Amino acid sequence: MHAQVGDQLIVESPTTDATKRDGEIVGLHHDDGTPPYDVRWSDTGQVTLVFPGPDAHIHPLAHGPEGDREAAGRRGPAATHRSGRPLSEAVVTALVRDATAAPSMHNAQPWRFRYVRHTRAFQLRADLRGALPHSDPELRALHIGCGAALMNLRVAVAHEGWEAATRLLPDPGDPMLLASVTLTGPLGEETDPADLYPAVSARHTSRHPFAETAIPEAVRAALVDAAGRERVSLSFPSGWHLQSVLDLALEAEARNLTDAGAAADLARFTRGAGDARPATEGVPEYAFGPLRHLGKAPMRDFAGGKAVPGRPTADFEAHPQLALLSTSRDRPEEWLRTGQAMERVLLRATLAGLATSFVTQALEWRDLHWPLRDPASGMAYVQMVLRLGYGPAGAPTPRRPVHDVLDIEP
Ligand SMILES: Cc1cc2nc3c(=O)[nH]c(=O)nc-3n(C[C@H](O)[C@H](O)[C@H](O)COP(=O)(O)O)c2cc1C
Repeated sequence: MHAQVGDQLIVESPTTDATKRDGEIVGLHHDDGTPPYDVRWSDTGQVTLVFPGPDAHIHPLAHGPEGDREAAGRRGPAATHRSGRPLSEAVVTALVRDATAAPSMHNAQPWRFRYVRHTRAFQLRADLRGALPHSDPELRALHIGCGAALMNLRVAVAHEGWEAATRLLPDPGDPMLLASVTLTGPLGEETDPADLYPAVSARHTSRHPFAETAIPEAVRAALVDAAGRERVSLSFPSGWHLQSVLDLALEAEARNLTDAGAAADLARFTRGAGDARPATEGVPEYAFGPLRHLGKAPMRDFAGGKAVPGRPTADFEAHPQLALLSTSRDRPEEWLRTGQAMERVLLRATLAGLATSFVTQALEWRDLHWPLRDPASGMAYVQMVLRLGYGPAGAPTPRRPVHDVLDIEP
């Protein structure tokens, strides 16, 4: 028996000769089209692995303008023609490279990926070498960074033309296995999240001053929608609440500058000019941004209060535009959802021409974290504080080579 993706698998009833069940072949496991197949059943919509028995036959995909789904353009605009075939090593590597373009606290890149060919599943695992013991002892920020990498992977997989099933924390006995992404078949009509793909490589944290120009209501609404798709709330604090968030960030930044633990985490992951350590992780000096002279944007000083030769000072915005990502519970699952929502928001903002940045210092101090919330919002836990606006793009920062963070298994 030979089939190609898009063919119909028909299983006849052995007794009545009536059609018992049919479904679309959405995935092959062998290049020559021999079984088994991934079949999406027409009655349930579920995809299962099928080893067809003697009562099954293939009804080939009708070719031509009506039948050829690729010619009809049903996949995403940038989708390729590879769906249904095993992913080559080059494609797996490219997908993981896209995942690792995600932001992570101090650019610590606390992730590792595995691709298992026979299940067509990516696994995302926490890499504790990227943990920040003083600034992130509960691994909250680690989960958020990994959630962002997971979102990028989902975007890249969809852009590649695949539909995928994502599971968070798939093994309760293995909490460092953060997620799995299983490719289930060719992508349907849905353009989300593939349409975010151009922003994956364009997004960089910008630590420059932004203009005072207000973000239009329609753009704000699109960002709220982006976060909501991951069941995370996005809000734009104003009035007393904005002032309170800014004050808490200033307080936290002052503490960070005098705290030995925070300084140790920073020193491990910042890279000055002429640093002999590998330049594949951490925040390089060229990305620190100018020192704040005037303005209310409480920027994290990646120089830790030390002078950096040639570093300019600049006036930051008097009315920073902050956005809070909040959840009603505070467990690893919510942190991973926050990471995905954050990356969706950052990618959507990038496509809308916004520069994006972070103001997360207050999240790193237990007593400052809780007061960040708006008690009237009903959302108990602020998980992320973003700073958005119109301004210069950030510079790209390095990543570890993909072969250091990816294993491919048969
Ligand atoms: C949980 C988390 C917290 C962060 N906090 C800050 C912050 O307070 N200030 C800042 O400038 N960048 C912050 N960042 C951004 C990282 O420093 C940045 O993503 C990393 O250096 C990689 O650079 P890129 O975003 O340009 O790719 C944070 C990122 C994450 C995921």
